[in-house]
Amino acid sequence: MSEDLKGKVALITGANKGIGYEIARQLGSRGATVLVGARDIGRGEEAANKLRSNQIDARTIQLDVIDQKTIDSASKQIESEFGKLDILVNNAGIASDGDRLPPSQVDIETLRHTYETNVFGVFAVTKTLLPLLKKSKAGRIVNISSGLGSLTKNSDPNSEFANAKYLAYNSSKTALNAITVLLAAELKDTPIKVNAAAPGFTATDLNQHQGHRTVEQGATAAVRLATLPDDGSTGGFFDENGVVPW
Ligand SMILES: NC(=O)c1ccc[n+]([C@@H]2O[C@H](COP(=O)([O-])OP(=O)(O)OC[C@H]3O[C@@H](n4cnc5c(N)ncnc54)[C@H](OP(=O)(O)O)[C@@H]3O)[C@@H](O)[C@H]2O)c1
Repeated sequence: MSEDLKGKVALITGANKGIGYEIARQLGSRGATVLVGARDIGRGEEAANKLRSNQIDARTIQLDVIDQKTIDSASKQIESEFGKLDILVNNAGIASDGDRLPPSQVDIETLRHTYETNVFGVFAVTKTLLPLLKKSKAGRIVNISSGLGSLTKNSDPNSEFANAKYLAYNSSKTALNAITVLLAAELKDTPIKVNAAAPGFTATDLNQHQGHRTVEQGATAAVRLATLPDDGSTGGFFDENGVVPW
């Protein structure tokens, strides 16, 4: 087992399953201490137990990204146990059945509900944990976006996503991309790097396992961005093959 991340503390939101769990597994298997963010402590503990049985230093942190109280107590817990955070992966995300309609017919509540988690939740977690990321020598923030957030792809009739016009989900990831760029610009003179990752269409509960990629593949871009060297990029949007157009 590689130990190149020994001493690093990584928090992954929504890490009890899917791509988030796999990101935790890959970072943990390289020696990082992984904090398994889970809104349900039982599901989080089950995932952390599985990771620990693979010799990974995994701890559960109860964190519902739409509940500021849990974000604040997660922050206090990390501060008192570690005094810093090296890697934050904003992975928790949702898609809603109410989004499976032509854009003009989507209910405003579907839009609000999706943004609560995919946009406001990410911002709330990042804002609260930024002081701890600033205490790291090499803070890394990875926002799990999607190719569906790319305006270039959404406006290309020949894109592989031409039929996936989900108003709430796609626009939430576009907003997340904007947050990524703005935060990276603010932090450009610090060691912190902020990037967005596109996992590709990955078989998870989010899409009833219809994705054609494995979680190992889906986690690749995020893990690379979470472990960028000091001269790595910031303010970018990447999949495992390189840059994704905005
Ligand atoms: N799968 C794909 O094809 C694909 C493609 C592009 C981008 N993505 C993105 O990848 C990320 C992970 O998705 P996935 O495919 O792995 O889906 P998933 O298997 O459904 O996992 C989603 C995770 O997010 C958690 N979550 C949802 N709302 C939360 C909240 N309010 N607070 C904390 N955790 C919350 C879920 O927790 P519970 O178990 O408690 O529900 C679960 O752990 C998402 O941001 C998604 O948009 C996925």
